Amino acid sequence: MPASSQSNFLYGAAVRTPALITDHPYQELVARYCDLVVPEGELKWASIQAKRGVFNFDKADAVVDFAKRHGIGVRGHTLAWYAALPAWTKDMASRQEAERVLEQHIRTVVGRYAGTIRSWDVVNEPFPDDPRSSHDLRKSVWLEQIGREYIPLAFRIAHETDPAARLFINEYDIAFAGSRFKSKRDALLGLVRELVNNKVPIHGVGIQAHINADRQIDSVGLQEFLHAISSLGLEVIVTELDVIDFSLPADIQLRDALVAAKAYEFLDVVCGVAAPPAVLTWGITDKYTWVPIYFTRADKLPNRPLPFDRNMRPKPLYSVIEYFRYRGRR
Ligand code: XIL
Repeated sequence: MPASSQSNFLYGAAVRTPALITDHPYQELVARYCDLVVPEGELKWASIQAKRGVFNFDKADAVVDFAKRHGIGVRGHTLAWYAALPAWTKDMASRQEAERVLEQHIRTVVGRYAGTIRSWDVVNEPFPDDPRSSHDLRKSVWLEQIGREYIPLAFRIAHETDPAARLFINEYDIAFAGSRFKSKRDALLGLVRELVNNKVPIHGVGIQAHINADRQIDSVGLQEFLHAISSLGLEVIVTELDVIDFSLPADIQLRDALVAAKAYEFLDVVCGVAAPPAVLTWGITDKYTWVPIYFTRADKLPNRPLPFDRNMRPKPLYSVIEYFRYRGRR
């Protein structure tokens, strides 16, 4: 479905190879409903540069080619993250070496897709759980070798390589009530303010939104955070929405309704304050979801975190997304 001025935001989803090549109903679903796709793992370091200096774009290209054939936009994920790094990155022995490696990787990847991938999660998950301040960054090879300067560096190189690309910092645990989640919002806001003050080319904040159904959403805290980001002149997009259902009742109708209600609560705040230009779910069908890797249910029933079921039928969660996508438009 082409991007439309008739909707409030573009809807997109994380997609994966090889399903995108082999699973026809999945292909049809993505082509029919998505304005945007983001490769779920195909643009991560471990996939692109498993061997030092040897770049392999086969899987990422498969996603990009699919998107091009169907007139779908592509987001990029991700350029500087602590995870999904090939083992060889541990061998970097100095700050200069790490800067060279980071720079070469970003120039090569962003350069390859310049003009095609118009929006990037440049820095992913910069903070640990319960950060003490905006200086309390998550441990990673980048932080260890380069220090917190790895963040502005990654943005500057990405911007130099493709000045038209929209560049985001992406983080999780932003929406919940509780002190460790407030710490996350405060730390992220502090870092983003610092980047803006230092004229670092950052255009927005990605809210991952892996929403645990049993956690409360802090509507006021989230509103304040979104207002603060917007008043810095930055965009907010929802990058990885899914509702983690591992503690919800087994009954499918009830579970799907609770999942949808939780997403409604979240999107109502986000769409009320920030008018996000894009909302992406992390996957589109329950057939392909990362959730069971970490959140398998005690009753062993399959998770149902996404807008379409395993048979590509829409669930109440999709109706919620559609409601906000077209609210006031038709
Ligand atoms: C996840 C993928 O979905 C999994 O398939 C992979 O094994 C691990 O990574 N936050 C992110 C994503 O930013 O990159 C993660 O993706 C999910 C959490």
